Amino acid sequence: QRRNALGRDLADPLTMERLARQMEEAARTHWRAAPLIDGVETSGDAVPVTSPADRRQAVGDVVWATEGQVAEAASVAERAFKAWDGRPVAARAACLERMADLMERHMPELMGLCVREAGKTLPDSVAEVREAVDFCRYYAMRALADFGQGESLHGPTGESNRLSLHGRGVFACISPWNFPLAIFCGQVAAALAAGNCVVAKPAEQTPLIAARAVHLFHEAGMPAGVLQLLPGDGSIGAALVRDDRIGGVAFTGSLETAQAIHRALAARAGPIIPLIAETGGINAMIADSTALPEQLVVDVMASAFRSAGQRCSALRVLYLQEELAPRFLDMLSGAMEELVVGDPARLCTDVGPVIDEQARDDLLGYIDRQRQAGRPVLGEGRLGEATEHGLFIPPVAFGISGIEEVEREIFGPVLHVARYRARDLDAVIEAINASGYGLTLGIHTRIDSVAESIASRVRVGNCYVNRNQVGAVVGVQPFGGEGLSGTGPKAGGPRYLHRFATERVVTINT
Ligand code: NAD
Ligand code: ALA
Repeated sequence: QRRNALGRDLADPLTMERLARQMEEAARTHWRAAPLIDGVETSGDAVPVTSPADRRQAVGDVVWATEGQVAEAASVAERAFKAWDGRPVAARAACLERMADLMERHMPELMGLCVREAGKTLPDSVAEVREAVDFCRYYAMRALADFGQGESLHGPTGESNRLSLHGRGVFACISPWNFPLAIFCGQVAAALAAGNCVVAKPAEQTPLIAARAVHLFHEAGMPAGVLQLLPGDGSIGAALVRDDRIGGVAFTGSLETAQAIHRALAARAGPIIPLIAETGGINAMIADSTALPEQLVVDVMASAFRSAGQRCSALRVLYLQEELAPRFLDMLSGAMEELVVGDPARLCTDVGPVIDEQARDDLLGYIDRQRQAGRPVLGEGRLGEATEHGLFIPPVAFGISGIEEVEREIFGPVLHVARYRARDLDAVIEAINASGYGLTLGIHTRIDSVAESIASRVRVGNCYVNRNQVGAVVGVQPFGGEGLSGTGPKAGGPRYLHRFATERVVTINT
């Protein structure tokens, strides 16, 4: 029986004290990321990596990969493929199980890195490590279930037919910074479980966490040539995608990058290369007049502002039925005033920094334009203490008339609130679908038939009723969108590994 990883009770002073001590020890390490090819780490000019919570705080340093190393990494992986794919699936799954155990053992250290390099709050850091652990165990289990002996298919012809799954070759795994451990490990673990070798290109904002994970994968028994790491920016990702040895791409990130990768793969000569692309969303929540305002406010705050709004699943547009609006908006502005924005290493912090200067400037520019345009401000947070050296944005909620006014995914702590009349619910659903995205949807209502009707008509990958709409649990809420939000199949779901594999049928005339 598979179980999801356990969390840590951060409200318990003894647990917290021990965790803080272990994280402090880990913080004394000067972390390093460098290209790792065939188990050998490159030396070279290292540049400092600093924390988004305080740009004076050095977390470690990184040696960036060169384009020449892309070809080298791909050919090492190509050479290692036959042996890895030929290994019994139980051996591959055992490596992933050991990786999960190692990450659990190293939880404080990994949490410390998430806090310092990615600016994650403590609860988010616990969730991050748990999700990475869950991905490894879940894909190990799915590989054992689906990649073993294959499946016998019986037919009327008297022949025996066996359908089996195999790795496709070398997968490029290209990941974002907002889940620097969980998504990084999820993509890599899935590709490896299915029998592929991997060249991993983590986000340029979070190379240290990725490098630590790759070292743990090797410690868990992953052979040297099976998994390579290339820290680098989008140009390294683009070179990787162009390389003829890459037989599949797993990508999570923005829509624009997914489209660029799609075009690059289409331009390649030779076989048609599968792309698994999980992208962003302009996610809505609909709350009707029967919603419980006390619960709604808690769920809206978590959905919109947890992780500083830097989740693909985060709530961007809240639709409130008119009758509910006055009471709810009072509660929302009160709750927003209470948000603690600041140092992610402190347990009291609700909202940590945004990831980098570009994100901060884009968000501040957007917020400024909304104010200039005269959009009503329905709620605002305040900067906490000691935020001047970090990249902090106070959360804000603007009134708008509908989702069509939000032209793109605003990736930060910005909420838009629209009101609707009961008779306009169909138009609200149409407008949400017309955005073209389809990632998450929240519904708050105490009428079951309303929830069912909305859920059946809005085209999204993950719909949540009477709760928040973030934090999908591996193996329980398989996660991923449709339309502009992604290709599927869902991460943490039973069919994810199949897209990393090729299917073969052997028919024997007996
Ligand atoms: P991004 O698209 O800027 O970068 C993602 C990765 O792609 C990085 O590793 C980057 O270096 C690489 N890259 C950039 N240009 C490339 C190119 N031309 N070819 C190949 N690789 C390239 O995204 P981001 O800012 O790191 O992440 C935030 C985005 O990710 C948001 O849009 C968010 O919604 C999305 N996201 C989606 C999910 C999901 O599961 N649907 C989960 C997390 C994040
Ligand atoms: N899987 C992440 C969530 O559900 C993105 O919030």
